[in-house]
Amino acid sequence: MNILVLGGGGREHALAWAIAQNPKCDRLIVAPGNAGIAGVAECAALDILDGAAVVAFCETHAIDFVVIGPEAPLAAGVADALAAAGVLAFGPSAAAARLEASKAFTKDICDACGAPTAAWARFTEAAPALAYVRAKGAPIVVKADGLAAGKGVVVAMTLAEAEAAVTDMFAGSLGAAGAEVVIEDFMPGEEASFFILCDGTDVLPVGTAQDHKRVGDGDTGPNTGGMGAYSPAPVLTPAIQAQVLDEIVKPTVAEMARRGMPYTGVLYAGLMIDRGRARLVEYNVRFGDPEAQVLMMRLGAQTLDLLLACAEGRLAEARVNWAEDHALTVVMAARGYPGDHDRGTPIRGLDALPEDSRHMVFHAGTARKDGAMVATGGRVLNVTARAETLRAAREAAYAMVAEIDWPDGFCRSDIGWRAL
Ligand code: GLY
Repeated sequence: MNILVLGGGGREHALAWAIAQNPKCDRLIVAPGNAGIAGVAECAALDILDGAAVVAFCETHAIDFVVIGPEAPLAAGVADALAAAGVLAFGPSAAAARLEASKAFTKDICDACGAPTAAWARFTEAAPALAYVRAKGAPIVVKADGLAAGKGVVVAMTLAEAEAAVTDMFAGSLGAAGAEVVIEDFMPGEEASFFILCDGTDVLPVGTAQDHKRVGDGDTGPNTGGMGAYSPAPVLTPAIQAQVLDEIVKPTVAEMARRGMPYTGVLYAGLMIDRGRARLVEYNVRFGDPEAQVLMMRLGAQTLDLLLACAEGRLAEARVNWAEDHALTVVMAARGYPGDHDRGTPIRGLDALPEDSRHMVFHAGTARKDGAMVATGGRVLNVTARAETLRAAREAAYAMVAEIDWPDGFCRSDIGWRAL
């Protein structure tokens, strides 16, 4: 079959790498892709937020299946446009994608189905929001309702931080995303991510992972899109996974169906685990980045069968073949990230690294310039390894990092510390 993946980051490189290994895949195109993705798929220029353009591309290229990677095309209704045109696609409708695109919508769903989450309130004006945070005190969490490219959540440890977050959001610091603000109680505990395929009715877990959101070793410094991840996440024990499925995921899927917006695609449950129980922090409607890199490393070629079963409503009959293994990815970012950083700096040494079922460098922001590999983004490479133990996966990943000659890049040196 001919498959189109939408996106151009490390997540999409990992998805394309896994899909390309499946014999069902005859032709694989990734739009827009990147220099690493070009090693496993054809890359094509396409406005992936334009549903009509994506449908036209599918018709021209006889595409049988579309995998939508990031949240923006989902929120923009690209899955709806493909469904209307009769093109099979993996990813939720725009209505269902509100589980990521609106924090207040998700909290409403949680309240309606009894899913455990933090107590919350929503505001459209600064004055009552400020009065609320002053009455509640810190720590407290201030969230822009809409999509804000990872910048919309402030975990305020002091009242001054909370007041500043509320004031900034209502002053327009995040544009329309901050026109409504959700304020919720701080939840103590350890954060982890659980990925579950949903076909509107049935659900199938496809792995757990733990991200490292802060830029610096020891979880210090500003928040980022994620500086590394590993899978599985031991904190999500089988008992806690069962609790999450029974108390959070299945009730959410049932409530979405009841509202006439069945959820199909991957549900990424961000969870806070405290004293043996999980509560929902947030949903995302796509695979995590860099969590997808470790999930795909473990799932490999079966990924395509699972995504197809999900899109075709056949999850009840689908099974995941798990190996008792571990994967870990180290993100290499441009020096200065998540602040200002240079672009176009050369990266050498990648060609000498192994690329097999246990070692991969997934590219997030790279391009070829005059034949040389250069960095084009903030997060640039995901150096990923799989092994029998997490410790061995970590050693293999950092051994690959040591071979990469990129003076303008950096990475955290402690990915996996919590589990190890
Ligand atoms: N790594 C966090 C995310 O994908 O949202």
